Amino acid sequence: MYCQATSLLVLILVKASICDNILSVDQHDVTLKLHESKTVYIIVPNNFTTINQGSLNLLIQHSDIASINLTNIELSSLFPGENVPISIQANGAGKTDVYSNSTQNLANTEDVYFRVTVYKAKGLGTLSTIIGWIYFVAWSVSFYPQAYINWKRKSVIGLNFDFLSLNILGFILYSVFNLGLYFIPEIRAEYSARYPRGLNPVQVNDIFFAVHAVILTGFTIIQCFIYDRADQRVSITARVILSVFGIFIIISAFIAYFNVIHWLDFLYYCSYVKLTITLIKYIPQAFMNYRRKSTSGWSIGNILLDFTGGTLSMLQMILNAYNYDDWVSIFGDPTKFGLGLFSVAFDIFFMFQHYLFYRHSRYEDK
Ligand SMILES: *[C@@H]1O[C@H](CO)[C@@H](O)[C@H](O)[C@H]1NC(C)=O
Ligand SMILES: *[C@@H]1O[C@H](CO)[C@@H](O)[C@H](O)[C@H]1NC(C)=O
Ligand SMILES: *[C@@H]1O[C@H](CO)[C@@H](O)[C@H](O)[C@H]1NC(C)=O
Repeated sequence: MYCQATSLLVLILVKASICDNILSVDQHDVTLKLHESKTVYIIVPNNFTTINQGSLNLLIQHSDIASINLTNIELSSLFPGENVPISIQANGAGKTDVYSNSTQNLANTEDVYFRVTVYKAKGLGTLSTIIGWIYFVAWSVSFYPQAYINWKRKSVIGLNFDFLSLNILGFILYSVFNLGLYFIPEIRAEYSARYPRGLNPVQVNDIFFAVHAVILTGFTIIQCFIYDRADQRVSITARVILSVFGIFIIISAFIAYFNVIHWLDFLYYCSYVKLTITLIKYIPQAFMNYRRKSTSGWSIGNILLDFTGGTLSMLQMILNAYNYDDWVSIFGDPTKFGLGLFSVAFDIFFMFQHYLFYRHSRYEDK
């Protein structure tokens, strides 16, 4: 739209349109080791018109992290089809944006930006990726032990229904967040308009994890309808909490529909509810174990895998923080790390309940 409209306008004045004059770079993400250097190219298209006036400035957000050997380019000196090499030198670990501003000209230089990531040790990056996959698997598999125990006992007595109902709502909202941000072009566009140089935070394995979690939790809930559940039901407190969340989400969707907020905000609201649920979902189960003085029916396998996933995810954050010298993202934004710490603390509490406090009653009423 922008391009077409501007083209029309400019075409009247000169015989070139801004759309023919798009400068870009060959990569937006540059990763390199401390003290190494790499070359990025500014792509000058074949149909680039050299009548451009003015210059292009390349600006570095954190010059202590990286420096470049070319910061000012005269647009009139560019040759169509001849790309311009820029050497990047890594001075310190971390992340920095390199972006451009240009003085008045007919070229579109919005796409001339890249993010430089400088790491200290290559091995740590690989280790971090491997850890990432291990905790992804641990967390995904963690849903199975509970389903297995239910099937084996033909009973769901001991499994808390408040936990299940909070869990399914949480994962549905998390799926909505991930699917929306990944698949809906309008929302992606909103995201890049708000964070012009930000990378989409959702990856394919996040989507897999969330949808898989909904399916498995749904399966466990179906088990509750089939197997022996004695007089267990979702408590009034949980119903009230779920309703409050539900109403909040419906109202948010409504005002997003009427353009009071963006759909992107709606997705963020979903993710806040999901975070709140993560904070409270284990409480009813822990309390139920305490009241029954038993953990039978509640799978410790689930907890051990959750613990594995949680500790590895925190370990990964610490490794990355060291490797990219970026402690701010851990301690400056406590949500992710804090949540990880919180669930691990709960897992440890459940382990105490299972292996210590109520260990004698574990095999009763099977
Ligand atoms: C100029 O080149 C770019 C990329 O090669 C292309 O997308 C664009 O359509 C071209 N413009 C004209 C007017 O040929
Ligand atoms: C910057 O470095 C690149 C790659 O080494 C080189 O090709 C280019 O000529 C250099 N540019 C300037 C202005 O020194
Ligand atoms: C672009 O950046 C340079 C260097 O920081 C600055 O001097 C100049 O005023 C900026 N120009 C525009 C148009 O923002």
